[in-house]
Amino acid sequence: MTILEIHIDERDIARELRSDVADGLRAEPKVLPPKWFYDARGSELFEQITALPEYYPTRTERAILDAQAERFARLTDAKTLVELGSGSSAKTRLLLDALVRHGTLGSFVPMDVSGTALLDAVTRLAADYPGLEVRGVVGDLTRHLADLPDGDNRVVAFLGGTIGNLVPDERARFLGGLRAVLHPGEWLLLGTDLVKDPAVIVPAYDDAAGVTAAFNRNVLHVINRRLHADFNVDAYEHVALWNAEREWVEMRLRARDAQRVRVADLGLTVDFAAGEEMRTEVSAKFRRAGLTGELARAGFALREWWTDPQSLFAVSLAQAVAMP
Ligand code: SAH
Ligand code: AVI
Repeated sequence: MTILEIHIDERDIARELRSDVADGLRAEPKVLPPKWFYDARGSELFEQITALPEYYPTRTERAILDAQAERFARLTDAKTLVELGSGSSAKTRLLLDALVRHGTLGSFVPMDVSGTALLDAVTRLAADYPGLEVRGVVGDLTRHLADLPDGDNRVVAFLGGTIGNLVPDERARFLGGLRAVLHPGEWLLLGTDLVKDPAVIVPAYDDAAGVTAAFNRNVLHVINRRLHADFNVDAYEHVALWNAEREWVEMRLRARDAQRVRVADLGLTVDFAAGEEMRTEVSAKFRRAGLTGELARAGFALREWWTDPQSLFAVSLAQAVAMP
């Protein structure tokens, strides 16, 4: 049985895009939130990124999930698996397979802000897992956690390191909000990229084939199309840099020369100076101690920490503890 629930209607999305773009283009320095990368083309470009030789997170996390899936199933006895920012749910199949073999799983609930990616994933999953209830939820994980189905023995998976795309304040609010909708004893399975030599990290965000550059610029196409703006997309250079103090990668778009942009739907005209940079994404990298503390402050106890032999990436299994 396949159900696709829509939790954000188009007007709601359009309103949020307008306010994010209006605020972000007027800010000093300019900034855009990364969730607007993911229209159909952006989701497709992200899938291409996951297969790039420089982009180690996806294949590393897949190997960790492959090694730990049976143990994960035994520890959690999950009846419902919820996946946030699910995209194609490709790696999640390792978890679904293990939970189906284990015999506890009844439903899978992928949630993503990108309706096209979600519909595609749900259609394939429903065909491949005929015994499973697959209930896709189009929603924003920073705003619609309360819309997730109730139940018992739920596990929430948030994979790929996407939690690193939230800035620290958003991250704390997200973890607290997630804890509030879980019952004590329910689980969070969290993928996080780890702090390591920037010479390994930066090329993952600046690949030789230029796929990440196209992904980064795609946000300008999204704004052009949806808000009738006139960004000259080719006039912006892709920039990826390591911020050692914050321990995150930043993606930016740098105006090659002075640019004037009209965003018709906002009645807004914005100027970029030659060389001006606008931040389009942060991708935070984590350390075990810091993440354990963030989880604990939100009401989660870390139970398992699974990593690869080179400690590139970690998958943690944490459990909601009773609130004081
Ligand atoms: N989990 C997959 C996909 C990661 S790409 C993997 O590990 O490969 C990040 C995904 O998160 C995209 O599909 C994007 O649409 C989704 N996403 C980004 N911001 C989101 C938000 N605020 N709410 C819900 N989904 C979001
Ligand atoms: C989805 N997210 C975890 C990716 C990342 O690595 O931060 C998005 C991405 N940005 C550039 N490449 C991939």
